Amino acid sequence: MPHSSFIHRFVPAEQGNRVTLLLLHGTGGDEGDLIPIGQSLVPGAALLSPRGRVLENGMPRFFRRVAEGVFDVEDIRLRARELAEFVEAASKVYGFDDHGVVAVGYSNGANIAAALLLLQPRVLAGAVLFRAMVPLEPERPPDLRDVPVFLAAGATDRIVPRPNVERLATLLREGGSSVSLEVYPRGHELGTDEIDDAGEWLAVRWPVRTEP
Ligand code: MLT
Repeated sequence: MPHSSFIHRFVPAEQGNRVTLLLLHGTGGDEGDLIPIGQSLVPGAALLSPRGRVLENGMPRFFRRVAEGVFDVEDIRLRARELAEFVEAASKVYGFDDHGVVAVGYSNGANIAAALLLLQPRVLAGAVLFRAMVPLEPERPPDLRDVPVFLAAGATDRIVPRPNVERLATLLREGGSSVSLEVYPRGHELGTDEIDDAGEWLAVRWPVRTEP
């Protein structure tokens, strides 16, 4: 694969499941982190889980930042392109439908998924973003009709101020996305209730088709 430069894990789908979850970990995580969450969100889905290629003090991330919440926008553009190419190449190697890829990202992984939605809107069929913020302001609104997004924010998140995630919801909606923004009573950390809610949200939009 030309972009196998992303260390990654791939778990094939079980029969009857057409969706592929693109799992994107947070800063300091790796390709193993979100596998259990992916399995509980859509049991039997294919899982594609790359490791971020940018290192910050040895911690993998998906793009460079200058400081907490201050992003290197040129690097975001480059990394979003690389990730889009990786997903396309992986769909050929592993034989999954590249029109059925739904991102599931946490924190920095949610932010690169948001960048994909804003810059490379054809790559994803939808997204579940835990603790996402605005990665950059796009030059023109992306076409996100038929690309629904579930945004899970933390009421006391000190990394993502509420107006920031609300701005992200607005940018996505301006592109035509149907956005569900839910706010949970905690900070940047993830709770099981929001994983359950995201699983229900996904099940409505990507029901498992049982083969006859
Ligand atoms: C980022 O850098 O993407 C955000 O600040 C989230 C994080 O801390 O990784």
